[in-house]
Amino acid sequence: MLRAFARLYLVLVQLAVVLPATTWASPISTQQVQGVAAKGYRLLDLQPGVEPVWKTEEDKLELLRQGVHFFDVTEVYDPEEAALSVNIEPHATKANFPAPSHLSDIKPILETLSTTNMQDYLANLTSFNNRHYITSSGKAASQYIFDTVTAFAAGRADITVTKFKHPWAQFSVIAHINGSASPSASAPLVILGAHEDSINLRNPWTGRAPGADDDGSGTVNLLEVFRALVAADFRPSTPVEFHWYSGEEAGLLGSQAVAKAYRRAGTEVRAMLELDMTGYFKPGSKEVIALEADYMDAGETAFLKQLVETYSVLDWAMDAPVRNGLSGRIS
Ligand SMILES: *[C@@H]1O[C@H](CO)[C@@H](O)[C@H](O)[C@H]1NC(C)=O
Ligand SMILES: *[C@@H]1O[C@H](CO)[C@@H](O)[C@H](O)[C@H]1NC(C)=O
Ligand SMILES: [Zn+2]
Repeated sequence: MLRAFARLYLVLVQLAVVLPATTWASPISTQQVQGVAAKGYRLLDLQPGVEPVWKTEEDKLELLRQGVHFFDVTEVYDPEEAALSVNIEPHATKANFPAPSHLSDIKPILETLSTTNMQDYLANLTSFNNRHYITSSGKAASQYIFDTVTAFAAGRADITVTKFKHPWAQFSVIAHINGSASPSASAPLVILGAHEDSINLRNPWTGRAPGADDDGSGTVNLLEVFRALVAADFRPSTPVEFHWYSGEEAGLLGSQAVAKAYRRAGTEVRAMLELDMTGYFKPGSKEVIALEADYMDAGETAFLKQLVETYSVLDWAMDAPVRNGLSGRIS
């Protein structure tokens, strides 16, 4: 994680932005969505403020091949929110980010992070033919993550590891560490996430997709950080969750489902950090921790810069924002 080229962006905040009512002649009803989806179509959000559009699976794949960024909202589309409309502010009170002040606590834990361990987890993850969200190997990969995290958490009654199931084979994995100061479910969460799936765009179901960098790297960073924190008997004062998302490559499916469930349950999220493609940097280029500008909370970005300056041997750099379409870097 320290020696990493990180792409970080907020997934949850993206969901809080809902389209203005004026763009909606008549919002699609839940029944309509289910009916069309049953015929094999997918509802894609291609641009903020623009009505989502129906595409066949094949057209959707073609968009992915062309590098077009979108949210597949087929399972999470909410006609009420679309009808209500105005921009909905994020539920959680805007977080205040204090100056980093835990160097003496964190330094010894950083020293226990093992690149060898990360390579071992990665060998395991890349040994699956692919980790596509609908394949049996994709499901087995999520089971591997679940088993690994469960083993790390053994003996800790305050940690719960759950399978967040979806209508497709691969589940998302969530590890919840209770807050020691306020173990109530309502305390705002801090979430660290990565996507567990991979995709071969020419042949998603049976094609080889080791996904070592995208996003095996972010996945193993979080596995190792989780292991090291538990080994160091880390007891956060407020709850912390680790998420490994299913189906990101197919339009951020898993993270949207989790975000929707949390919103429905009134779960407050204080801050969320997503790691994607943290392993690779172009030979000859400077190794940095890259921060995303799109869809990020400015306060959190400023905080992340301070974290990097305080705790990492690397510098941070801002990735170039892409202003057309949904996000610069959904990768
Ligand atoms: C994957 O992990 C399992 C146990 O979790 C282990 O038995 C197996 O040897 C590992 N495989 C690879 C390729 O690392
Ligand atoms: C963890 O928090 C949950 C509520 O979120 C509570 O029900 C449970 O008892 C807590 N467990 C421990 C060991 O504190
Ligand atoms: Zn990715």
